[in-house]
Amino acid sequence: MRENVFVSDYARLVNREIRLPKKVRIFDTTLRDGDQTPGVSFTPDQKILIARQLDRLGVDVIEAGTPVSSEGERRAVTAIAKSGLKAEICALARPVKEDIDTAIGCGVDCIHVFISTSDIHLKHALKMSREQVMKQAVKFVEYVKGHGVKVEFSAMDATRTELGFLREIYKAVVEAGADRINVPDTIGAITPRGMFYLISQLKPHIKVPISVHCHDDLGLAVANSLAAVEAGAEQVQVTVNGLGERAGNASLEEVVMALKTLYGVKVRVRTKLLTETSDLVERLTGIYVSPNKAIVGDNAFAHVSGIHAHGVIEFPGTYEPFSPELVGHHRRLALGKLTGRHSVEKQLRSIGVRPNKRQLLEITRRVKALGDKGKQVTDADLRVIAESVIGALPKEEKVVELKEVTVTTGSTITPTASVRLSIRGEDRVSSATGVGPVDSAIAAIRAAMGEISKLRLKKYHLDAITGGSDALAEVTVELEDDRGNIYIAKGVREDVVLASVEAMVNGINRYFAGRK
Ligand code: KIV
Ligand code: ZN
Repeated sequence: MRENVFVSDYARLVNREIRLPKKVRIFDTTLRDGDQTPGVSFTPDQKILIARQLDRLGVDVIEAGTPVSSEGERRAVTAIAKSGLKAEICALARPVKEDIDTAIGCGVDCIHVFISTSDIHLKHALKMSREQVMKQAVKFVEYVKGHGVKVEFSAMDATRTELGFLREIYKAVVEAGADRINVPDTIGAITPRGMFYLISQLKPHIKVPISVHCHDDLGLAVANSLAAVEAGAEQVQVTVNGLGERAGNASLEEVVMALKTLYGVKVRVRTKLLTETSDLVERLTGIYVSPNKAIVGDNAFAHVSGIHAHGVIEFPGTYEPFSPELVGHHRRLALGKLTGRHSVEKQLRSIGVRPNKRQLLEITRRVKALGDKGKQVTDADLRVIAESVIGALPKEEKVVELKEVTVTTGSTITPTASVRLSIRGEDRVSSATGVGPVDSAIAAIRAAMGEISKLRLKKYHLDAITGGSDALAEVTVELEDDRGNIYIAKGVREDVVLASVEAMVNGINRYFAGRK
């Protein structure tokens, strides 16, 4: 991971003063705490898809859900537990017989047993005494262990629990057989120094690995998770894109990249799959990742200022802590009023235009002028500007042309599409099925393109640009080639399937134009 990593030496310097664990386990709770995100409710099929992706990503534990809460949850957790994934599959349960029996019935490897321990929760939520909580926790940890299943025990609201009682309950559950203890900062109400102190106070008394679970109510979930690791925590509970109850949990991608690049700690995650995992979760939840989100946001490796763009063109380490390829992302030079001629030149080359020095300066001036008017300058805008400065540009050759598309769909048949494309003048016909008409049409195009282009559909966005049932549909697709280059294209039609197909074909032509 040191290769293509350009982080501060001061971080490494102070890391020598602490006893970091050699390896940190990643416990992913996207399918459990992430499923508690307002507006999110995963179906069993979506959970299975995400679990497979998390397994490819290499997380150590997948918390698949809370089986007792619904029939769908029970089915999803069972299916994930039986799908032969490498990760440990875990289910959440209260220390209550029905919860635990249902979780055991799903065939999971581990049960995450939790109960509140703070006085504020005991008084207002559980209405139980500390003694009752302790007794119930121990009883059900023993019960789970009696069934040969691993236990991770959480003292809910641990960061607001009196230290003496917190130590006692953790020691008691470990004595009862708990394999790991988890320290939840349930309402995100601690500072990194407070978390460091708390874990340091627990560590000498706890003989099993310590995990931490931080919420982001004050925007400190990642910092608090890292502080816990600095104090000796060997596991971090995280979610993809930082999903979770209220403001969410510590984000998997941020914690993993900080651990690897800033601390040099071993984490099993294959970081190259971080962006595609984030994209999948974004698509399935409809919870959009903000463009300026660290690691996986669209702008995470986009450079606007001319000074920055020139720097990264010369040497990426000047303005990037690590290269985007490490996380499966890509670098982008955004054009606008702050753009310098180096970015303009690079962008023009990518669309096959090579201006002379005088032309380049004039194009740059016009790009800045457009930026001053508040406009984002797209490739299409750049082409128009370049054309008016240089004169007619070589025509964008259409390698692929759509000749025909037919889609059959209905409530009782699998949507099927067939397409006829002309590729460099040669006809190709292909058909495919999909989960809907758009999906099947896109699959048919990909099948027709076959080995010619290994493009991945990274993003698909549909807008209705006029009102009513005959509204114009504007589809924007983002395609990515195997080198991480992105091709954005649009299609506008009255029919959403045709608009999608047109956007795909335009994107594929863009890809071929960029390769010349
Ligand atoms: O935030 C929390 O305390 C939880 C527990 C179930 C671990 O999600
Ligand atoms: Zn939580």
